[in-house]
Amino acid sequence: MTKKSFDIDLSLKFAGVKMRSPFGVASQAPFSPLAMSPVHLTEMLLKHVEAGAGFVHTPYIHCENQHPKDRLPTGRFMRAEVNGFGKLGMYALAESYRIEMRLQEGLKLIETLKSCLPADVPVIANILGPGADPDGWAEHAAKMEAAGADIIELDVSCPLPANAAGAIEAYASERIPEHAGVLLGDMPALTVAVAKATVQRCKIPVGVKMSPEVGFPRLVGFVEQLKEVGVSFVTSVNAPLSVAPPDIYNGGRSLFPGLNLNPIAPAIGPFTKFLCYRNIGTISVFVPGLDQAAVGGLVDPTHMVEAMMLGAKICEFSSGTLWKGWNLIEASTDFVKKYMHEQGYDSLEDFRGMGTRYIRPVEEVDWGLGRLTASVDDSKCKGCGICANNLCWAMKMEDAKAVVNEKNCSACSLCIAICPNKAVSLVEAKNPRTEEEIHAEVMGQILKK
Ligand SMILES: Cc1cc2nc3c(=O)[nH]c(=O)nc-3n(C[C@H](O)[C@H](O)[C@H](O)COP(=O)(O)O)c2cc1C
Repeated sequence: MTKKSFDIDLSLKFAGVKMRSPFGVASQAPFSPLAMSPVHLTEMLLKHVEAGAGFVHTPYIHCENQHPKDRLPTGRFMRAEVNGFGKLGMYALAESYRIEMRLQEGLKLIETLKSCLPADVPVIANILGPGADPDGWAEHAAKMEAAGADIIELDVSCPLPANAAGAIEAYASERIPEHAGVLLGDMPALTVAVAKATVQRCKIPVGVKMSPEVGFPRLVGFVEQLKEVGVSFVTSVNAPLSVAPPDIYNGGRSLFPGLNLNPIAPAIGPFTKFLCYRNIGTISVFVPGLDQAAVGGLVDPTHMVEAMMLGAKICEFSSGTLWKGWNLIEASTDFVKKYMHEQGYDSLEDFRGMGTRYIRPVEEVDWGLGRLTASVDDSKCKGCGICANNLCWAMKMEDAKAVVNEKNCSACSLCIAICPNKAVSLVEAKNPRTEEEIHAEVMGQILKK
């Protein structure tokens, strides 16, 4: 089948702004002095646009005018993986003050982008205002609007200001420093005041990029307040803070290539997907009617569909394009068109939010206890014994094959989750029992002992 048969229109309106596609480039502050040039950065972003991006973000633009000569952009990436589990993601360590784009470069970047981007590829200005000063943020945002930005995204979630000296004291005393980031975004009242002032000042839509440090259920009330003050969208998550593992064969030293220290560092990539989906799914359910941008751990075209099924309107690539290059945008576009063709969806609306109807209170779950049982496919079981070597009460090894004792199986599916050969599945039990029967047989006996 040729590509032409998947000629499906992916254009949409996000926060009221027209976009040719829901896939675009996340905000990424440069780790190199070269990338502070608006011309260079435009060239780089244009490559993503040529690959089909439907929008671009600026890096976070701070309101200071000049980049300090002695604190130029740099940073360090480190591979994060777990033996036997594979690649987790990366640590992306930097000092916020060094990598913030300063006002003049930021405004020039917006102007340059606007002069060469197609009309249906909007520029989202990601900004870092002065501390917790609502009017200062609003004034800063208004400058982006005047330069031509189509949408404002308040970056109250950059993790980096929290790894700077003095951050703990600043947070505890609510004296939010100039370079605020997550120190602000973890304080709903202050963030809502900043968002309200910015919404009132700007004509273009304003959104908030959420901090992963704001967990569920706290984020629900927070996002409700943002919606009430007129915020047009929320962006799922920035990078959570972590501490990289020490080098266990070298006295606990840093594993960052060429680094003498192991500072608190943001973690990016697949791990963050847990947090991204948490936010997208729960906000869809508990604060309906607010546009959402998904970012965090989206590294495969299928992730785009998953995020949209949980309610996201647009999807942003950060780690995805760091690993796979901007071709991931083209691959995702092709994948979604093919997927929609095969599933019979004519528009993105046909499947957006479809998965949210299943996000229900756990008390409503039908567990199938006594009705369902694990079943091993002998042709796939390699006899490794992993499934019989943990807290499972039903699995035993017989003649180098895993065998299920149906009576003891509670259908917990740990065996399915861990089997390296995908040899186990859940099937209807041959001799189904009710919970009352299980109680009489098992619990009753236990209580007698
Ligand atoms: C090098 C780098 C720079 C980033 N700069 C910004 C930024 O300027 N503003 C922002 O809101 N997020 C920034 N982020 C966060 C990403 O936009 C994204 O939210 C985060 O990496 C989680 O997505 P991922 O797991 O797909 O990487 C940056 C991330 C990286 C790796």
